Amino acid sequence: MCSILPMLSPQTTDRVREVADIEDIVNEYVPLKKKGQNLWACCPFHNEKSPSFSVSPAKQIYKCFGCGKAGDPIQFIMDIEGMSFTEAVRHLAQRYGIEIEEERERTPEQRRALSEREALFMALNYAKDFFIDQLKTPEGRAIGLSYFKERGFTPEILEAFDLGYAPDSWDALLTAAEKAGLQRDVLLKAGLVLQKEGDAERVYDRFRNRVTFTIHNVSGKPIAFGARILTQDKKQPKYINSPETEIYHKSDVLYGIFQAKKSIKAQNNCYLVEGYTDVISMHLAGVENVVASSGTSLTENQIKLIKRFSNQVTVLFDGDAAGIKASLRGIDLILEGGLHVKAITFPDGDDPDSYARKVGPAAFREYLAQAPKDFVRFQIDLFQEEAAKDPQARVALIQTLLTSISKIGDG
Ligand code: CTP
Ligand code: MN
Repeated sequence: MCSILPMLSPQTTDRVREVADIEDIVNEYVPLKKKGQNLWACCPFHNEKSPSFSVSPAKQIYKCFGCGKAGDPIQFIMDIEGMSFTEAVRHLAQRYGIEIEEERERTPEQRRALSEREALFMALNYAKDFFIDQLKTPEGRAIGLSYFKERGFTPEILEAFDLGYAPDSWDALLTAAEKAGLQRDVLLKAGLVLQKEGDAERVYDRFRNRVTFTIHNVSGKPIAFGARILTQDKKQPKYINSPETEIYHKSDVLYGIFQAKKSIKAQNNCYLVEGYTDVISMHLAGVENVVASSGTSLTENQIKLIKRFSNQVTVLFDGDAAGIKASLRGIDLILEGGLHVKAITFPDGDDPDSYARKVGPAAFREYLAQAPKDFVRFQIDLFQEEAAKDPQARVALIQTLLTSISKIGDG
């Protein structure tokens, strides 16, 4: 269960400063090349074609001559992972096996002084643990766990993705969280509970009677939830998601990036899908380099996030041709971001999740290996039927292609 994060001792920070190696750390995000005294790469913080990002192993600092970002290893982790100073020190301490010494227990004043961000992270982490624990109650087992089992989710997958269950109650989370010392206004700011309209005194859980999907940031911290309905009730939304908060900006986040980043790097390719369950089914099928845009159109920041780990995106389209045409803008955005794009479509109304379950892991992986088309081929095929019949459509196709091609940089 949740514990209030104590403060770090200054000795821990000193140890991290002694041991952390800038070259080693930066290399995990962008490959460095030696030139003279320094090492160089294309800057991970802004878009560029030729390297102006330098690392000095002697001085243990980095500096980008393009965008001006500069600092030591701790600053680099803060910048690239979007962490606070303390989070970055903890992250590096863990990585280098440095023992984390905590300061004595916080006084109530110190607790109040915790930054709002850290309080929100704590609340989200508490809720994650709470929902996971609820899967173990009789209600959670009968409803939540059996739903996941039916979908073929394994215990390992439940754990890797922090899947859980929000009970059928107006205040189960609220009551437990307050008892654990979390403040009501923090729970509100975290989007975990809501105030009744016209009656601010009445506060209730946002997620009820649903299975929960934890949304993590790139370093694995829970920042939001998506919660799926368990009935066929068409009057209620299939998913209820966290609202935008201080720590959750939907347009900057990709579902599954934490679980996928290693594989994206290793495969130098990132599969992009639509839904939470597509990501999970693909993991079950043995494909781990996959993230979801969670049902919205792709943004520039999401593309930058992928670019930290790979320069190729393979978009997996489900749905009909009309739906696909509507999402072609996403492809242009990826091209503008300087990434290679491929595309895969699925037969008759299947999405990656349903297709993977239909054909099984081996055939699914084979399909992924056979099916990718580069974006030009993909767009030609997509519009071919109309273009064959209609000269107007032919002109439109060529224009679409030229637009896409014009997004690609030199060469
Ligand atoms: N979505 C949402 N709110 C909804 C419907 C969809 O936020 N009311 C988002 C979710 O991120 C969802 C994605 O859009 O994962 C894709 O939607 P859909 O294909 O309907 O859901 P799946 O995740 O595929 O769920 P399932 O396989 O259970 O149908
Ligand atoms: Mn689906």
